[in-house]
Amino acid sequence: MILLANCEAEPGFFHSVTALKAGTGAVDALVEGIGHVEADPAVRSVGYGGWPNMIGEMECDAGVMDGTTREVGAVGAVPRTLPVARLAREVMRRLPHVMLTGAGARRFADESGFISDEMLHPDSARVWWDKLEGLLDPAQRAAFPDLPLAPFSKAITDPERVRDTTVFLGRDSGGDMAAVTSTSGWAWKYPGRLGDSPIPGAGFYADSRFGAAACTHTGEMTMRSATAHAVVHAMQLGLDLDQAVEAAARDLLTLETGFLGEVVIHAIDATGRHRVVNLLGRAPVSYWIWTPEMAEPERRLSEQFQS
Ligand code: GLY
Repeated sequence: MILLANCEAEPGFFHSVTALKAGTGAVDALVEGIGHVEADPAVRSVGYGGWPNMIGEMECDAGVMDGTTREVGAVGAVPRTLPVARLAREVMRRLPHVMLTGAGARRFADESGFISDEMLHPDSARVWWDKLEGLLDPAQRAAFPDLPLAPFSKAITDPERVRDTTVFLGRDSGGDMAAVTSTSGWAWKYPGRLGDSPIPGAGFYADSRFGAAACTHTGEMTMRSATAHAVVHAMQLGLDLDQAVEAAARDLLTLETGFLGEVVIHAIDATGRHRVVNLLGRAPVSYWIWTPEMAEPERRLSEQFQS
């Protein structure tokens, strides 16, 4: 068994460890833990602690992948819904589809018994409007949000201050691997924007034969390089975990436009090894790791990737 998650995962990590120890399958153990992260308003990037889009509405993204069947469930830009990773799990379980977005995802949430919840944290609402208000002239303020938003997009969505995601990767006692993600996405994002968290192959991927990977920070970059799949596919082609992560990181570094700083690749392999690297980041970021040899989960620091 193994469980790896990024630093935001703290409120749920122990719950996933407990579930794995009790014999719960990887997908459900990870969905269980991530639900606790989404419910904790102290985690300022996911669920109740997350950030609204440019018009002040919460739109969350999540993805779930079963590494044994390679089935995926994903939801994107879902309004008024928590726990959103569990909704992605329901897409995988109950529909012949991989991904639902927006109003369709909310409709499915209603059908699946999820309450409708505005879920906008008062501090997120305050920070959102304080920053936006400064960019609008009086006429625009009066018209808001019925005005073209694209002119404000670059000014307000600063990729250097993107808030993050939570990602969980795990392997259960039966050898099944899973990847689960959840996020509210970039603060002040254009309505309908999807990051990498609901995109299989970009923000997450799992194949129980080889390994699993997930990314945090600027999803616009990992979508362009299909980074999570790149890691796992490299292992399928015979590279070991270290070589696979390094190959995917080098590929990201060939992107000459966009904001790559702070992207972090998290990966595990089918033998129970793990690797976490940050690209061009100013400082290492912490992550959580647990294997059965450890008395307690450990918080460790990522490694700065050197090309
Ligand atoms: N990595 C999360 C996002 O870009 O939304």
